[in-house]
Parts: sequence; structure tokens; C-alpha cells
Amino acid sequence: MEPLVLDYTNVLAETIGSEHGIGVEEIGALREPARRALAAVQGRRSRDLRWLDLPYQDAVRDWILEYARSVAGRFQNIVVLGIGGSALGNRAVRTALSGVYDDQAPPLGRPRLLVLDNIDPDWMGEFLERFDPTSCLFNVISKSGSTAETMSQFLILRRLLIERLGEKRAREHIVVTTDADKGVLRPIVREEGYVSFVVPEGVGGRFSVLSPVGLLAAALTGVDIAELLAGAAAMDSRCRGEDFDRNPAQVLAAIQWLMQAHKGKPIAVTFAYSHRLRDLADWYAQLLAESLGKTRARDGRIVHAGPTPVRAVGVTDQHSQVQLYAEGPFDKWFTFLAVEHPDRDVTVPADFADRDALAYLGGRTLGELFHAEREGTIVALTEAARPNVTLTFPRIRAHAVGQYFQLMEIAVALMGEHYGVDAFDQPGVEAGKVAAYALMGREGYAEQRARIEKRRSAPRRTV
Ligand code: PA5
Repeated sequence: MEPLVLDYTNVLAETIGSEHGIGVEEIGALREPARRALAAVQGRRSRDLRWLDLPYQDAVRDWILEYARSVAGRFQNIVVLGIGGSALGNRAVRTALSGVYDDQAPPLGRPRLLVLDNIDPDWMGEFLERFDPTSCLFNVISKSGSTAETMSQFLILRRLLIERLGEKRAREHIVVTTDADKGVLRPIVREEGYVSFVVPEGVGGRFSVLSPVGLLAAALTGVDIAELLAGAAAMDSRCRGEDFDRNPAQVLAAIQWLMQAHKGKPIAVTFAYSHRLRDLADWYAQLLAESLGKTRARDGRIVHAGPTPVRAVGVTDQHSQVQLYAEGPFDKWFTFLAVEHPDRDVTVPADFADRDALAYLGGRTLGELFHAEREGTIVALTEAARPNVTLTFPRIRAHAVGQYFQLMEIAVALMGEHYGVDAFDQPGVEAGKVAAYALMGREGYAEQRARIEKRRSAPRRTV
């Protein structure tokens, strides 16, 4: 199968100069720390970093496929109730591997996938008005089994289903993905008899797309999950190699670290030149932000570390953000996602051939124009000394998307070593969750509630 290719020529000092580009000696100096980072991450493979082994869970894959076959044709809509790491991978897989318009008009016999990762009452309310819950299979995904957003959605839809169908038939519309033991969802699964899948130990939310968290909805909507996992396994073996120059995760992690620590570029822009890959950039934004954005280093020092992820889509954002990228502050570096062979092409008619401003388009294809615009943007940014790499997908296939997930997860784990932070916790997210529990009056959070109320009662300055 065709590998993803990472071209990093345009981050090098020999291409864009030494002020913004990485010198050979800077990479040289990082080889030993990179070797240690790789040994540290791979050494935890069969201990706590179990997500590394997700591509090899054949029994889980087969179980998911069997369940998907057993419910095939029964539901018009597969609805994911989850948030953060329990949602973004699902959306990324759907956008990349289902038809762009499948949301609005799913192909005959194939269910639509909706990812409801917000409790905005307008959004949720309209879903309830527009969709018949009895036409849906709800995949409730929560590793902790206690996230307020997901659990409130679960409570709403479970009640609606029971009112419409009675308890026994309502059950058939809910499938749960959660921890094997922890959290409130697992005992509910047992009491109510839902079909359920497990988020394995050692697999954090943002590293879980290749577990049942991402695989179940993918399989239910016809994605080839065996290929997704095969792609991840192929990338996994590339990223185990100790030869720095042949290990794309090592190279990416080193570039990210050098860009922020040595070149003063705290902003990492993922520029997807593919409508279908845009949500892969969204998924990566969470992976990068939540993994590296930390108050403390692992040795306890206060560091306030972390790059700021930004997403852009080509060509759309050429007419929105590229002005800033080409001429604004030198605080960013870029990862272009490119597709070598798009699945389709469209020819532009050779009308108005006597007008110079249109004649050059006649008879050419949108694929040619798209390619020219991507290459043009890369050249322009390179000439403006803006460091950039290009990650090329040969074609948008499950195998390539699987490679991408595994590559970026391993790269971010290695970045955690360079930054010296714990890439696998999220104390800042937990703090927000606790504040919400306190404000909603959850038992055991009275102290936090009093503190928040005091802050909220201070005089406001408004205009
Ligand atoms: O990556 C993470 O750990 C988070 O983004 C979680 O996925 C998110 O907070 C949802 O948590 P849970 O799956 O426990 O409901």
C-alpha cells in the first residue's frame, strides 16, 4: 500500500535561511534527545501507552464488524453522542472517507452519520425537532462515563426512546462505548442490557480513534476499518525505527520542538488542501493542544508549555488567512496536507476564449487549478521564509487515514518528551468539568461552587 510522504525541505535553513529555518547542526544536536524520546515512548508500549497497539486488536475489529453486520439496514442515522476525543476522530473519519454530501443525502441503503459534540440547546433542540429518534442508533461514547454533555444527551434520548418505543425496544437504539469498569455508564450498561464496547485501559480520549470509539461508527457507515487499522499498523512499523532520518514521527516531533523552542514559532498551522481532510486537521488540533498545553513540566517546573494549533483549508483560506501567513509575524510554521490523486476531476469549458482573464482556464481541470494554487501558496510562503512541511496522501483511502492517525499520535507522544510534559493527562479540561458540575449543583462540589459564585458576584465592567 502507498505510504504517506513527509517533505520537510522547506523548514531547512538551506531553503529558507537560518533565521527561520532549521540548521543541519540543530537537527544533529537533537538526534540523541530524539533517540531517548523514542525509547521512552516505545518502552511504555505494552505498559500504559496501550493506544500504540490499537492497530493490532483483531478480535475487537471482528467483533465490531459482526455487530455492524447484525444491525445493517436497520437505522437511517447513526448518531454519536460524545465530545472531545470521543467525537473528533469520528467526524474526521466521516469527512475523509464518506461522501462530502452524505450528511445531506446519504447513498441509498447507507445510514447518515451525525456527530453531536455540543449541547448548545439550539443545535440539540433542532436535532430533536428534525430527526425521529426511532430512526437512529445512538452511540453513546464516554471513556469516563461522567462527562456532563454526553450524559445529559444520553438521558434526553433514552427517555424519548422509552416514551416512543417502551423500555425493551428503546434498548436496541443505544450502543455504548465506555471504560470496562470505571464510571457510571458501565453499571447502567449492565442494568439496562445495552450492547457495549470498551475503551481500553491506557487509551486516552484523544488517542482513541482506532479503538471502538472511532471504529464503531466508521464500520456502521461502511468505512473499511480493516484497512484503517492496516494503515495504522504500517505507519506504526515506520515509526518504531531508530534511524531518525527514516522515522517520520521523529522528524515531525523534532521540527515541532525546534520551531517553538529555537525559532520562536508557537503557532502550528495545519493547512489541509483537501475539503475531505479538513477534519483531520481539527482532530489534530485537539491532539496537539490537549497533549502539550500544560502548566507544569513533568519535573514540577512551571512552564506553561504548548504550541497553538490553527486549522486552515485550501483553497478557501487563501482568500482569508494567507495574507497574514505571508506577511504577518514570523510566529507560525505550516503543515500542508496534500492529496496526490484526488478521486474526481472536473473540466472547465473553453468559453470566452477571446478574454485573456478566462482563456487560460478553458479546457483545464479544477484538479490542475487546485494543484497550482497549493503549489503556488507553498512557493509563496517558502519565498517569504515561512517554514512549511507537506504531508502527501497518495489517495484518500482508509489505509492512508489510518497511517495519518498513528503518525500524528506517535509524533505528539514524542513531542511530549521534547517539551518535558505529560502528554497524556488533561488537568485543564478536568478543571472546566469540575466548574460545570459545581454550577449545576452536583453533590460534592459545594466548595467549588461557593468559590465560583464569589468570583461571579464581583462587580462587572461592561459597556
Ligand atoms: O482527550 C480527552 O481525554 C478528552 O478530550 C475527552 O475525550 C473528553 O473530555 C471526553 O471525555 P469522555 O470520553 O470521558 O466523556
